[in-house]
Amino acid sequence: MKKKPEIIAIDGPAASGKSTLAEKLAEALGYLYFDTGVMYRAVTLAALEAFHCVDDEGRVSELAENLQIDVRPPSKKDGRKFDVISAGEDVTWQIRSPEVDANVSRVSAYARVRKAMTAQQRRIGQRGRVVMVGRDIGTVVLPEADLKIYLDASVEERARRRFVEQAERGGNLSYEDILKAMKHRDRYDASRAIAPMQPANDALILCSDGLTAEEILKKVLELVRQESEP
Ligand code: CDP
Repeated sequence: MKKKPEIIAIDGPAASGKSTLAEKLAEALGYLYFDTGVMYRAVTLAALEAFHCVDDEGRVSELAENLQIDVRPPSKKDGRKFDVISAGEDVTWQIRSPEVDANVSRVSAYARVRKAMTAQQRRIGQRGRVVMVGRDIGTVVLPEADLKIYLDASVEERARRRFVEQAERGGNLSYEDILKAMKHRDRYDASRAIAPMQPANDALILCSDGLTAEEILKKVLELVRQESEP
């Protein structure tokens, strides 16, 4: 009898539906849902607050190596899925700002930042019963994952989703601005030297264009079932 996948890695570009899938999948399986993007976002926010820009690789790296980031169950009913605590402060919504969006890929390309974040993520992932989401989970953080999904979608569809999300939160960016920023971040994430965003060789590539969150969840639960079959 094959064992049910204990470590599930979900990678892919911004707004492809990774977080929604991972959250629902973790709930269905009774696993921990861990979104690694929040760690890079928390470092970026802290660097912007401390230095007003993220250009100084040495200083940003040192900050990342010393920053205490915690992800905890939600303490407020304001639409959040979890609390993100950085240096003791609740930064759950601040890490979603356009300033963080614009700078996070720069920060996440720094070698020492990645090393510090990857070590923490591996420690959590290796405990098992986890659905971990990011760009490099199947390739670098947890290459031993039992099931690897690379969730993609067209950049137009992804920008449309982000546009709706930010408008619901009272943001006033245009669809065109979001599309442009997203293309820029994709290019940066896919072309960086360390742990670039790419599907692992043994990842299953799914495209979420035209599919609802429920349809994707169903597909992935079916994959989990197949993996667990004798
Ligand atoms: O939510 P969204 O897909 O927009 O982004 P995210 O998952 O929160 O990730 C924000 C940024 O962090 C990405 O654009 C990457 O630059 C970086 N990241 C990374 O390099 N490696 C990860 N495992 C997760 C995020």
